[in-house]
Amino acid sequence: MSLVELTQIRKSFGPVEVLKDVSLKVEKGEIVAIIGRSGSGKSTLLRCINGLEQVQAGRILVAGIDVTARNADLNVLRERAGMVFQSYNLFPHLDVERNVTLALKLVKKLDREAAGKIARDVVARVGLAEKLHAYPDELSGGQQQRVAIARSLAMQPALMLFDEITSALDPELVGEVLRVLEGVAKEGMTMMLVTHEMNFAKNVADRVIFMHEGRIHEDGPAREILQTPRTAELGSFLSAVLH
Ligand SMILES: Nc1ncnc2c1ncn2[C@@H]1O[C@H](COP(=O)(O)OP(=O)(O)OP(=O)(O)O)[C@@H](O)[C@H]1O
Ligand SMILES: [Mg+2]
Repeated sequence: MSLVELTQIRKSFGPVEVLKDVSLKVEKGEIVAIIGRSGSGKSTLLRCINGLEQVQAGRILVAGIDVTARNADLNVLRERAGMVFQSYNLFPHLDVERNVTLALKLVKKLDREAAGKIARDVVARVGLAEKLHAYPDELSGGQQQRVAIARSLAMQPALMLFDEITSALDPELVGEVLRVLEGVAKEGMTMMLVTHEMNFAKNVADRVIFMHEGRIHEDGPAREILQTPRTAELGSFLSAVLH
């Protein structure tokens, strides 16, 4: 079984259908970049995968959990599928260590010592060992986003979802976050990431999905998709983003 399996999903907001018959399989260890114009449904797709949105039709299986089942356990789902957003959403009154350990204590019921050990490990993995006791407002945007990644890694998810996590950063801070993502990818994490960083998609992703008007318009090996688009829609999208 694939780690993620979407079968003919449909998602509407009121009368507007924003995901139209989307089917998709992602295998363990795959790095999948999702690209497409604003409004094409990229965020909605990720939000459906970790149960933040409910679909009107179709089936979603994630790490063995039927997300679309009426009694789906969304807490377990979100432990298996960690999500990082454009806004880092750290707790401002907690230091880095306590931002990272919070869910370990509350959700995984780990004691302080066990949670602290994991926190030190993941914070070191994102290159912030010396910031363990800093507060969010003492960190740059790039560092805060790395803490958000560490917090997600700490839960040992089977899958990580990233929605334009570098889009709100000053340009000089984007690289450090992308390098952390690349490290996580190299460790074998399965990742689905919405990104406008085409070089990153080309160099780090195994596969690129191009969304267009609520559908998967192209899907294939990253270099092939980005270098030889098969459809006019992808061709014009790429020429717009690569100017
Ligand atoms: N909560 C909502 N209520 C109503 N419409 C919504 C909602 N969320 C998204 N939409 C609509 O669904 C469509 C797809 O939105 P989505 O955010 O998935 O696009 P996107 O590809 O992520 O775009 P962007 O690149 O701008 O982030 C858009 O037309 C959007 O206006
Ligand atoms: Mg979006």
